[in-house]
Amino acid sequence: MEDASAGVKNLKILPMTFASLEDVLTIERLSYLSPWSRSQFEKELQNPLSNKFIAKILHGRREVVAAFVIYWIVGEDAHILNIAVHPDFRRRGIATNLLCFTLDNLEEKRVKRVFLEVRRSNISAQRLYRCFGFREIGVREGYYGDNNEDAIVMELDMERADFDYGEQ
Ligand SMILES: CC(C)(COP(=O)(O)OP(=O)(O)OC[C@H]1O[C@@H](n2cnc3c(N)ncnc32)[C@H](O)[C@@H]1OP(=O)(O)O)[C@@H](O)C(=O)NCCC(=O)NCCS
Repeated sequence: MEDASAGVKNLKILPMTFASLEDVLTIERLSYLSPWSRSQFEKELQNPLSNKFIAKILHGRREVVAAFVIYWIVGEDAHILNIAVHPDFRRRGIATNLLCFTLDNLEEKRVKRVFLEVRRSNISAQRLYRCFGFREIGVREGYYGDNNEDAIVMELDMERADFDYGEQ
């Protein structure tokens, strides 16, 4: 385990492809109680509605996949389906970088509202989203079948948010 305070070197955000699938699956499995299956990722990779990116960083001399994000744009709305950072590289601003990139992209595409669901117990993710201006708009009771946990539904109103996503 690395020193968590160490900065991130040479962060690059690139499209997710089949070539990055194994690394993405590793992060997914280390991140969730009920990880998405390989075929769920394959469907996203083949779905033209789905936007998916990875973040690569320099780790020693090697470039490694440290995180990924998947989101959909449907008209003026967007939905963040998945964002995860490898446990070895958390708390260094990588999710913040990926969200800045995502919201910048959504702003360019004239998206007005961004939605996501987050487990009630996932306080770290909720804190992250609140930093960007997301607010709770509802609860889906027992949404997560594995432990019957509620989902907090969060929304970001892009027209009211005054954060300059491109500046991060
Ligand atoms: C949630 C997650 C994506 C955050 O990634 P990250 O790269 O560590 O986040 P950042 O370093 O950009 O953190 C930004 C802010 O989010 C909040 N945050 C992130 N992790 C936190 C934690 N463990 N505890 C408390 N706050 C946390 C803090 O406000 C943090 O700012 P700070 O470090 O200046 O205090 C990561 O913990 C993860 O992959 N978790 C498992 C997957 C998951 O839950 N995804 C979200 C599903 S809805």
